[in-house]
Amino acid sequence: MSTLIQTLMGEIDRLPTERLFGRVASVRGLVIEIGGVQGNLSVGDRCRVLTRDGGTVTCEVVGFRAGHALLLPFGGLDGIGMGCRAELTESAPMLRPSADWLGRVINAFGEEVDGKGPIPLGETAYPVRTQPPPAHKRQRVGGKLDLGVRALNTFLTCCQGQRMGIFAGSGVGKSTILSMLIRHSRAEVVVLGLVGERGREAREFIEDDLGEEGLARSVVVLATSDESPLMRRQAAYATLTVAESFRDQGRNVLCLMDSVTRFAMAQREISLSAGEPPASKGYTPTVFAELPRLLERAGPGVPGTGSITGLFTVLVEGDDHNEPISDAVRGILDGHIVLDRAIAERNRYPAVNVLRSVSRTMPMCNTDDQNALVNTARQVITTYEDMAELIRLGAYRPGSNADVDAAIHYYPMIEAFLAQAKEEATDLETGYRMLRQILETQPAADAGAPSGS
Ligand SMILES: Nc1ncnc2c1ncn2[C@@H]1O[C@H](COP(=O)(O)OP(=O)(O)OP(=O)(O)O)[C@@H](O)[C@H]1O
Ligand SMILES: [Mg+2]
Repeated sequence: MSTLIQTLMGEIDRLPTERLFGRVASVRGLVIEIGGVQGNLSVGDRCRVLTRDGGTVTCEVVGFRAGHALLLPFGGLDGIGMGCRAELTESAPMLRPSADWLGRVINAFGEEVDGKGPIPLGETAYPVRTQPPPAHKRQRVGGKLDLGVRALNTFLTCCQGQRMGIFAGSGVGKSTILSMLIRHSRAEVVVLGLVGERGREAREFIEDDLGEEGLARSVVVLATSDESPLMRRQAAYATLTVAESFRDQGRNVLCLMDSVTRFAMAQREISLSAGEPPASKGYTPTVFAELPRLLERAGPGVPGTGSITGLFTVLVEGDDHNEPISDAVRGILDGHIVLDRAIAERNRYPAVNVLRSVSRTMPMCNTDDQNALVNTARQVITTYEDMAELIRLGAYRPGSNADVDAAIHYYPMIEAFLAQAKEEATDLETGYRMLRQILETQPAADAGAPSGS
């Protein structure tokens, strides 16, 4: 109770004693310029613009130009005209998450969007934008997290507090793999940010793919593609904020975001409106500064708290894995899962390309035996794929090379192992057992076992 009183007292202290306001001086595109209070504002501050018809539009300061503050609206611009009053609002934006948020869908402001009634507020206010815990105070990544998906559990084992990217072109199965993680992983709590998704898809995803059981242990933060760039960007921040609140209660949280690319695009729109010159592919330098600030918030907590395991999807435009956002995100995270269009086209889902994917913590968290097993399986895939053309053309003569013969034997079984239906879950131990059983089968008499096993 005393913490509640302390929090309330703190908030009362922060309440402004006077209300400052400026006036709208011009509106250009989505940018509102206000004059009169620019000396009291800084980037990131909030204002409330009072519209002609008596409504209010919440805006954020995104820059300054020629003696005016530049504001972007969270909603539409209807009713805003010259001379409208723009009031400064109090302290930094906060959310008050609570355990009752599980099973709910909220917007970037923590308001309900699922029609299930008001969202109950927790005791502690968490800032929407905050710094990650200092690196030297953070715990190290914890034990393995069972993700329920064979291809990831065995070939790309993920630890508690690890951050991974899921990279794929459009329509290769990013959202589907996330829905599998929500339903099949052993995480205590899931926080899912749907940032810049099409409205129809978001609804179908929540109702069909998550289903009741998936939703029951999740909080979904939703900003659809038709919402303003500020809302989309804030939805990404809010996702991390909700995850942090559960982490601070000692929970091990799985934080998923679909997609980081849309967050980057929202930031690009915001920066360009404020007049920042574009750098790479139209993305502004601020985008590349904001990405690590967002993604670093996931990870292990300080001692005494839980962890946030982060899996973030990245839309790889034009299947070019070197485009700037993919490149930047890959450099920040502790691993990447690559979904490959060629694999999806031959109908093997999830279309994880295990050779191009990597989990940087995996060699440390696995036993030697498990590492050896996975290396052998990788070797089989490499050998097969190197020879695939020749094998398909019938130009390879069985018996010419023992490793290739073994690969021809094991490869189809490993492919079948990597395929997994959406509804199917496989835990960590079962995954390793299945892989071991495959590699223990004997190839035809004239071929040897795969080297390294
Ligand atoms: N595990 C799976 N089993 C069967 N089909 C799948 C699976 N995963 C993906 N698909 C197929 O791929 C299609 C696209 O998947 P999904 O919507 O997950 O892709 P995405 O990468 O999120 O696309 P976008 O870039 O448009 O968001 C699905 O409609 C489905 O037909
Ligand atoms: Mg998708």
